[in-house]
Amino acid sequence: MPRNHFRQIASTTTLAALALTATSCNQASNDEIPSLHEAFEGLFLIGGTLSNSMLQDPSDPGYAIVEKHFNSLSPENCMKWGNMNPSPEVSNYDLIDSFTEYGASNNQALVGHTLFWHSQTPEWVYQDEAGKDLTRDALLARMRERATLMAEKWGDHILYWDVVNESIMSDGSWRQSKYQQIIGDDFTEQAFRIASEVLPHHAKLLYNDYNMTDAGRRDAIVAMVKDFKSKGLRIDGIGMQGHWLMDYPDTEDIAASIRAFGSTGAKVHITELDLDLLGRSSFFGADVDIKRLTANSENNPFPDGVLPSSEEHRFALRYEEIFQMLVAEAEHIERVTFWGISDKTSWLNNFPVRGRTNFALLFDRQFQPKPAFYRVLNAASKTDN
Ligand code: GLA
Repeated sequence: MPRNHFRQIASTTTLAALALTATSCNQASNDEIPSLHEAFEGLFLIGGTLSNSMLQDPSDPGYAIVEKHFNSLSPENCMKWGNMNPSPEVSNYDLIDSFTEYGASNNQALVGHTLFWHSQTPEWVYQDEAGKDLTRDALLARMRERATLMAEKWGDHILYWDVVNESIMSDGSWRQSKYQQIIGDDFTEQAFRIASEVLPHHAKLLYNDYNMTDAGRRDAIVAMVKDFKSKGLRIDGIGMQGHWLMDYPDTEDIAASIRAFGSTGAKVHITELDLDLLGRSSFFGADVDIKRLTANSENNPFPDGVLPSSEEHRFALRYEEIFQMLVAEAEHIERVTFWGISDKTSWLNNFPVRGRTNFALLFDRQFQPKPAFYRVLNAASKTDN
């Protein structure tokens, strides 16, 4: 029996007709198009994100997309340590309350992003009152305090936790972060130990990173997950961020990493999917610490937000190719989350070049589905699920 509802409601012919409508003047509205998460039912969850500005503005038009297309939700920033507690005396919890209340009322599988990351973490976290580095034990205690607070306040609502973000380098070595300097090589293990002990039993614990096709990082993560499991630690998922380019990585290499991660018994989550149409020339991956350039006519070729149809087509085909591969590897995949809602607010408008007009997601700046949207739906409809 087909598990995929979408197959019962829309044939490829219908899709082609919708796509045609969408490229003409009268674009198909959000009400008229099929739901993405329904299309992928039985394969994997489809997620999106809520930015701080959306959480502050319930009238944001992006909510119509969130409610129709996503059955999982991640917060872009509000749960990061620096947002929550920019200083020890300040506690910004309102946006997290809004995020969890909203997601729970929509029955969306919520992601706690992220417990421990070297970036967007204020200096005070690593210091005592005199401004001196904490001892290993004191930093571990502070991490436990944060995880305990998360569990007590929002643990009931959150299904997936990104426990550690980006602690492994592309050659497989540990990142020399402040956490690492103070705690040592077992920072990531200690973080999972704390999360295993403190977070509720229903929660699934993930390690999350970028450039997951790099062989050194991939192999180190596989070894790490096996090691943690052999020590009785909970580690249920591996998050591949998926900030990908038009020509990199090769889908075959992504598939190879998905299979390698799947072989550990952990589920793969594509946690932050977007495609950088404009590219990064010499920049690779999504290292948020790299120096940003400023937009100019060379690196910002479509400032009015309209793509030539050949570029739109190229973008749509790349999304289709990626989703065809994800569908083929679906047995290993639990969730695919887009990092953002529409091109209007994608972080790629400011990374790695500030202030350019980039193209990254399935919905355009007017919140209309792009040709890539239909290509992605098409990938879902071509399965035997
Ligand atoms: C990393 C983080 C995300 C986000 C992106 C950039 O991938 O995991 O939270 O900050 O960078 O938007």
